[in-house]
Amino acid sequence: MPASSATRSARLAAYAKLNLNLKVLNQGPDGFHELRSVFQTVTLADRISVAFTPASRTDIVLRDALAIPDNLVERATRAVLERARIKGRVELTLSKQIPMGGGMGGGSSDAAAILLALPVLAGWNPPLAVLLELGAALGSDVPYFLLGGAAVAVGRGTELYPLPDLPARRVLIVSPGVAISTPLAYSDLNRGGEGKLTERQRIQYIDSFQSRVWSMGESLSSAVSGSIVGNDFEKVVFPKHPQLKSILKTLQKAGADPAGMTGSGSALFGVFTTQDQVRQAQAALLGQRAFPAAFLSRARYRAAWWLQLQDHMDGKAWPPRSKYASRRRDEQ
Ligand code: C5P
Repeated sequence: MPASSATRSARLAAYAKLNLNLKVLNQGPDGFHELRSVFQTVTLADRISVAFTPASRTDIVLRDALAIPDNLVERATRAVLERARIKGRVELTLSKQIPMGGGMGGGSSDAAAILLALPVLAGWNPPLAVLLELGAALGSDVPYFLLGGAAVAVGRGTELYPLPDLPARRVLIVSPGVAISTPLAYSDLNRGGEGKLTERQRIQYIDSFQSRVWSMGESLSSAVSGSIVGNDFEKVVFPKHPQLKSILKTLQKAGADPAGMTGSGSALFGVFTTQDQVRQAQAALLGQRAFPAAFLSRARYRAAWWLQLQDHMDGKAWPPRSKYASRRRDEQ
């Protein structure tokens, strides 16, 4: 169907994240595990185009070359329209760049992109808390992408606190093509059974995480060095996929500081200071799918969002506000 004059559209970049570290505490009664993690957005991004046309009934069309089952983009679209009580035709085209099953939050970022953009196009200005609630219902990593930058995640991963921007760094992300099932990685840790932390261990985990985050605050330039890294999933994922450990070693040998696995894997990352180091690491990993990228600070994350929604926004607020909203549509 051709776009009508009432159609409002935008092209979006949905950025990936890295977990600079990840501690998994015990499993809660809801089945989710309690986490401690430092998240950082990076410039690697999926591309989404979204067009909204007001209509008397809702119709969602998603063009996705990979035909991803139960796509979070579609679920996020439906969640926004239902919560806003708005009907319309939404046409979406998704172009994946972030490797799937890599622990970089690609699907979650795509969903968050819809939560940020569709209200602006559809003329609805919900408070951030409403978007966070919709995000958490879609997946544990979605709320983080409504904020961006460097952040501490606690609880299920949906409770987030801002960290000051980390120093600018380049990264090389290596995706060895092993798709890790997140629920399986959690169950291998067995934190509800034999792998359950004792109360003493739990407190030690929290204390060591806390002291690392404080040291990040005190010396930002040393923050992104080996002291912050460490991912509990490496213990269960590396023995099953030994090639991941050897990629990690190659990154470290090439001077990455730190290097680690992100999320429940399988992507690995190395943090570098110069572009030259990144090129050398890439040469050492010839034959691997490797993506050069850079840390994306919260300020740059938001600036990128304001730019991609600029034709439809009312001022520069966070979350972006729609210029089409009537007071009636605004959620209290
Ligand atoms: O929330 P999300 O859909 O990303 O979670 C996928 C799965 O990962 C959950 O069903 C759960 O098995 C596991 N998970 C967990 N604890 C968390 C986050 C995810 O056990 N904090």
